[in-house]
Amino acid sequence: MLDVPTLRERFTTHYGAEPKLIVRAPGRVNLLGEHTDYNDGFVFPAAIDRATYVAAGNRDDAQIVVYSGQFKVTDSFGLAAIERSAAHPWSNYVRGVVRGLLARGDTLKGANLLIESDVPLGSGLSSSAALEVATGYAFQLLNDIEIMGEELALLAQAAENTFVGVQCGIMDQFISALGREGHALMIDCRDLSYEAVPLPAAARIVICNSGVHHSLGDSGYNQRRAECNEAVRILREFKPTVKALRDVTLADLQAHGAALPPLILARARHVVSENQRVLDGLTALRSGDLQAFGALMTASHISQRDDYAVSVPEIDLLVDIALAQPGCYGSRLTGGGFGGSTVSMVATEYVEAFTAALAREYQARGEHEATILVCRAIEGVKRAGLS
Ligand code: GLA
Repeated sequence: MLDVPTLRERFTTHYGAEPKLIVRAPGRVNLLGEHTDYNDGFVFPAAIDRATYVAAGNRDDAQIVVYSGQFKVTDSFGLAAIERSAAHPWSNYVRGVVRGLLARGDTLKGANLLIESDVPLGSGLSSSAALEVATGYAFQLLNDIEIMGEELALLAQAAENTFVGVQCGIMDQFISALGREGHALMIDCRDLSYEAVPLPAAARIVICNSGVHHSLGDSGYNQRRAECNEAVRILREFKPTVKALRDVTLADLQAHGAALPPLILARARHVVSENQRVLDGLTALRSGDLQAFGALMTASHISQRDDYAVSVPEIDLLVDIALAQPGCYGSRLTGGGFGGSTVSMVATEYVEAFTAALAREYQARGEHEATILVCRAIEGVKRAGLS
């Protein structure tokens, strides 16, 4: 975690005045339920102890000035007309959220922002959602606006959908806004109801960044969404009550799958089976059955790899190495895919040996270096200091 006095000092050095507040929004790891959120399905993420921080102060004019500590560059824009920035793509997350607040009718003052983050970019751990949620929360506090966690998540998602152009679902923004310490949230992405489930004390969540940069902007993410919509369109001919793949069962796919092109059928099979795995995973965790939960994680990986085609060889290698280690209950690609990170559930007493072996073997068998994070689940967006 980054340290508040340092952020405060950096802001003061940069802007010549103390920040009014500092907020932090966490990145996330998803334990089960991948590519189900935009199909009205179930997900099971946790907010992790890696976060994006926004230090902020008001200005007297109608300008927003943003300094990115990661890129060491400043961007600024006026509140009157907010356009997409080609020069500073990172700033579009900020611009999109500010524009979303203005579109709600909120009156905003100008602001100085300093952004720092220890969520590694392109690692599949939702650095974008963390930035959106932290920005939204900072503006909310700076301008005395009341926004509930769910609303903040929806606003952040809308910024990414309409301004950045990635048709992401609600999972990342939701967990970054509403995460709970020591828990994962089982979220029903149709009605946004959720349940906080305590994480088992006997195991740790181990994230391993493959070093293969993931970017949803230029990946097949939007294409996968379109393929799911195509599956729904065809299946509705047989079952008119189907609004999303959430409403389709494996029995439906058995009965009508022949009507779908094979690739579309495979995509649908992943989503339908993945929704069931989240429900089964919840039952397994409630009864303390880590073996069963881990097996579902691994089945999820195979489904993502073979049916949804969002894995890459380096991620498959990490999963294979993980599963061969003692104490590993299960391992899978986490997040949007096309690179990024794996998540493994590992018995606590084996974690040290597990991380050492994973790093060593991955380097020995491939070209990339792994970055490993044994993470804790923390609470969602909040003030980090100067309250
Ligand atoms: C990205 C998106 C999420 C979700 C995952 C895949 O992280 O932002 O909405 O679709 O991919 O589960």
